[in-house]
Amino acid sequence: MTLLAIIGGTGKQGTALAARFAKAGVSVIIGSRDAQRGADAANALNARLNLQNVSGTSNRDAAKQGDIVLLSVPYDGMQPILEDLKETVHDKIVINIASSLDPEKKTRAKIPAEGSITAQVQNFFGERTRVVAAFQNISPEKLESEDANIDSDVLVCGGDKDAREKVIALCAQAGIEAFDVGVLANAVAVETLTAVLIAVNVKYKVKGAGIRLTSVPRG
Ligand SMILES: NC(=O)c1ccc[n+]([C@@H]2O[C@H](COP(=O)([O-])OP(=O)(O)OC[C@H]3O[C@@H](n4cnc5c(N)ncnc54)[C@H](OP(=O)(O)O)[C@@H]3O)[C@@H](O)[C@H]2O)c1
Repeated sequence: MTLLAIIGGTGKQGTALAARFAKAGVSVIIGSRDAQRGADAANALNARLNLQNVSGTSNRDAAKQGDIVLLSVPYDGMQPILEDLKETVHDKIVINIASSLDPEKKTRAKIPAEGSITAQVQNFFGERTRVVAAFQNISPEKLESEDANIDSDVLVCGGDKDAREKVIALCAQAGIEAFDVGVLANAVAVETLTAVLIAVNVKYKVKGAGIRLTSVPRG
């Protein structure tokens, strides 16, 4: 059975992802820069949702234990976390959920030198780690909703097809429709689309605008 490690799982998006996957029966381990904060967040989630399959510890221990390691930390604080985790993620799938946004104005895209944050993470971890982009375009409100199936698609891309398929299968377990949108170079589109969705949220005074693909087969 897959053990999902959520690095920075104490935050808003990480908590929502942990809740969604844990409710679907996936074992989740919440990582934090402070192991006690990770354990406290896990206990709080188990108590709130009447679950037993969430645990918590330091980011590094969570990454060591996880089969799939999901990075749920802000981009501007990511580099020291990547350095901390580098030796723990060999031969694992890592999911980057951060978007390429201008920190000064999040309705505006800002593309890093490597082409995307996902590419930056892949370059840093090297070939032994398979990095995919996913969950950039889905809000914590949707993830925490009681809906069995979420009306917001997840786009998954990265350099390894098997890794993409494993993440898509994991999403399906939790009522999240995810689609394979191709290679690592496409991560720039997935990451910058978030700026568009935030602009929609602002303009139309909504929370959690998402996207739905049309003319695709649905399970
Ligand atoms: N919120 C959304 O609507 C949304 C939607 C899609 C994707 N995302 C992406 O999801 C990721 C997490 O978003 P979030 O809203 O959950 O973020 P957040 O609450 O600000 O931070 C998540 C966790 O990261 C750790 N953290 C915070 N600042 C840090 C720093 N400077 N350096 C290292 N670690 C730090 C904290 O955990 P500890 O203190 O416990 O270590 C925190 O609980 C981001 O990359 C964001 O772009 C967010």
